Amino acid sequence: MFLRGKKVLLRSVEQEDIEMLRELSNDPEFEKMIVGWSYPISKKDQLNWYENYKADDKTLRFIIETEQDGAIGMTGLLNIDWKNGVADAGGMRVAKKELRCKGIATDAYMTLFRYAFDELRLNRINGSVISYNTISQHVTEKVGFKKEGVLRQAVFKNGKYEDVIILGILKDDYKNVIESTNYWEE
Ligand SMILES: CC(C)(COP(=O)(O)OP(=O)(O)OC[C@H]1O[C@@H](n2cnc3c(N)ncnc32)[C@H](O)[C@@H]1OP(=O)(O)O)[C@@H](O)C(=O)NCCC(=O)NCCS
Repeated sequence: MFLRGKKVLLRSVEQEDIEMLRELSNDPEFEKMIVGWSYPISKKDQLNWYENYKADDKTLRFIIETEQDGAIGMTGLLNIDWKNGVADAGGMRVAKKELRCKGIATDAYMTLFRYAFDELRLNRINGSVISYNTISQHVTEKVGFKKEGVLRQAVFKNGKYEDVIILGILKDDYKNVIESTNYWEE
């Protein structure tokens, strides 16, 4: 099932997306801003990743697409725990810089949450953000994530240890955001 938001469509990963994903993973700016990390990724590595990846009951990755610009990023739900109704948010990424600050990530989060909470019956999504990533902190707070703690010096980037802020959003938090913003009504 594809997930339709107000600005984005979240759809499954296709082979034609792999070059966009490889560029994302190899972009030093992304590497700096995300909590995770990777070695430089070759075309063959990325193809292997695609061939080995398949959506399963613990991992759902979505390409973020807009009608105007096509595939522009990726998000997802990882480590889905069906017993407790908990999953990890899979690093929100909007590839094209000229498309930033147009509400794409906000809509992608809201669309992902609607699916996670109203269809998959999850109750909580975990998130994390590096302490200097102020844009991501702003967006995650706006869509309802709450700050739950700090992992001191938990990542090493650019020669320095950096703190990681631990986030969580509950289904109730998501409902509060919808109610206070009329998100799906506008
Ligand atoms: C973080 C990211 C996903 C945001 O995507 P986006 O589509 O530009 O986000 P949105 O347009 O929905 O929202 C951006 C918000 O940040 C605000 N913002 C812009 N610059 C900011 C800054 N320096 N500090 C704080 N907030 C800022 C914008 O005003 C906007 O808020 P508003 O809608 O309330 O006005 C995107 O910048 C990205 O892919 N960055 C690189 C990877 C990354 O950091 N991923 C998150 C890892 S946790």
